[in-house]
This record gives sequence, C-alpha cells and structure tokens, in this order.
Amino acid sequence: MPKSLISIGDFSKDEILHILDVAKEFEKNREQNFLAGKVIACLFFEPSTRTRLSFEAAVNRLGARVIGFPDSRNTSVSKGETLEDTIRIVSNYVDMIVMRHPMEGAAEIAAKVSPVPVVNAGDGSNQHPTQTLLDMYSIMQTQGRLDGLTINMVGDLKYGRTVHSLSEAMSDFSPKYVFTAPDDLKMPSKYLKYLDSKHIPYEETASLEEHLNDCDILYMTRVQQERFPSKEDYDKVKDVYELHASMLSGVKPNMKILHPLPRVNEIAYDVDANPHAYYIQQAGNGLYAREAIFSHVLDISIDDVINDNTIIK
Ligand code: CP
Repeated sequence: MPKSLISIGDFSKDEILHILDVAKEFEKNREQNFLAGKVIACLFFEPSTRTRLSFEAAVNRLGARVIGFPDSRNTSVSKGETLEDTIRIVSNYVDMIVMRHPMEGAAEIAAKVSPVPVVNAGDGSNQHPTQTLLDMYSIMQTQGRLDGLTINMVGDLKYGRTVHSLSEAMSDFSPKYVFTAPDDLKMPSKYLKYLDSKHIPYEETASLEEHLNDCDILYMTRVQQERFPSKEDYDKVKDVYELHASMLSGVKPNMKILHPLPRVNEIAYDVDANPHAYYIQQAGNGLYAREAIFSHVLDISIDDVINDNTIIK
C-alpha cells in the first residue's frame, strides 16, 4: 500500500516532529527540484483558497507539475461517475493525489482504491491533517515548543475538521485544552472520549472572555454555514463570537491567535495589526508544511532536503 495521509493519527509523534523539522528546512530554502518529473493531482470537490493554492505552489516550487480541478462540476462527476472510479482513473496519470471532498470518509475511500498515495486536504467535518501540520508548525514557531501549552479552541467545534485533527495531534504533547463553543457547536463526544482515554485535561465553556487571558494559543474558527442542515440553524449561532483588539489587553505576552481561515466575523480587522495576531503568517506556513508532507509521503530524506539534492526516482 502507498503511504497516504488520511487522518492525523496515521502519523506517529516522531513522524510529525520529523515533518516539522523538514518544514523548517523548506522555510530556509523553499525552491528545490526533488519532485522533477512527477505529476501531482489536486482534486478539489469543495471550495478552497489556501489549501489548494499552497499545495499547488508546493508542487511548482519542488519542480513537479500539477493537474486537477478546483470544482468538480466540470468533470464527469456531474454525469454520475463515482468517487472510486474518478480516483481509479486519475491515479493512472499521476504519482500522488491531493483531495478535498465534502463527505466524511471520502479520503479513506479514495485511498482504498488508489495505487498512488492520497493526501486528505479535508473531508467534510471529519479531518484536515495537513492543516494540523501547518498549525503545529505555527505553534512551534511562535512558542518555541509544543509541550505543555494551554490551547483554547473557539467557535464551531462540532463541524470544525481543523480542531478535530489538531486536538488529536496535540494530545501527544501534554496540552491543557479549553473548548469554547455554544451548546449547539460543542466538541463531539468522540473527541472528548479520546482525550479522556489519554488523561488530557480540558474545560468546556460558552464564554470567550473566560479563558482569554490564560491560554498560549487562541485557535479561532469560523462557524461553517455549509455544514448546517438549515439556514435557520446557522443564523442562531453565526456571530456567536467576535474577537476585537480591545479584548486583548490582559492576554499572556506569548499568546498567539491562530485561525485556519477563511474568517467571517469572528476576528475583527482591528486585530490584524495586533502583535498577538498570527493567522496570516500561519497560512504562509502552509507552503513549507505541504512541501514537507510531499517529501515525507514520497520518502525523500531530510538530508536531501537540506542539501537540495535533485532526485528523479
Ligand atoms: N484552512 C483552509 O482549509 O482554507 P481553505 O478552505 O481556503 O483551503
């Protein structure tokens, strides 16, 4: 079986730390040629700006070529072709498939029928493991460590695949979690049970102010209209949290605000110039993390990355 990345749990703690080390090397030298001759498919069945474009930028900066689509409406999916058949066909043409899909479990289905590695770029409300790697890289960059941090996740914890993956991955680094969400958007019990099984402490609250001043990472998320069963349900909670610069006067000096983006109203624009804001740089880190993910999935060593060796396998 090829080495796919479907869920963040597919990678051990050591593998994650290795990918973060490799990402650091790519930040020093993001232009390398070790994917020369390869073709990568980016199949996006759901909208994306950062994930698709940072993956495609990574493909281009590493010397490979990219094929794919940003919207499946112009593909034979619109004629009724199944996901499995689409993957079986595309995998004939490429060395790896990066895929985003609105259905939970779609990446796993794709990996089961694909002879080439599949990288999950987000499957419904389930997982977003490549976002998690760039989030962890951003945490390391801003805190100098991953261990022993208080991470406050805010907003749509029910449908938010980024918080699902991140809470799982960071649980290997002795965190303390705060989950800030209204009743309708609380962290699903399966993730809380997982944390219980690992004896990770967490607190749930509906108040954004309650733990603002005692966290190291404030991980804001968008309430995702596209996941709600009806507009009425969405309207009830859509602007539940709004972070303004005036609320940040008492926060810890090292505290950084992350957000997978896009944002709607949950972070006011007056926060952007605040030294605690890090979400724009965080999105920039996506390039290095995704270059490192390519190198890991395709078994390129860190020495080759450091030495900028051109490899054509
Ligand atoms: N963070 C993230 O997944 O953004 P996009 O939806 O723009 O890819």
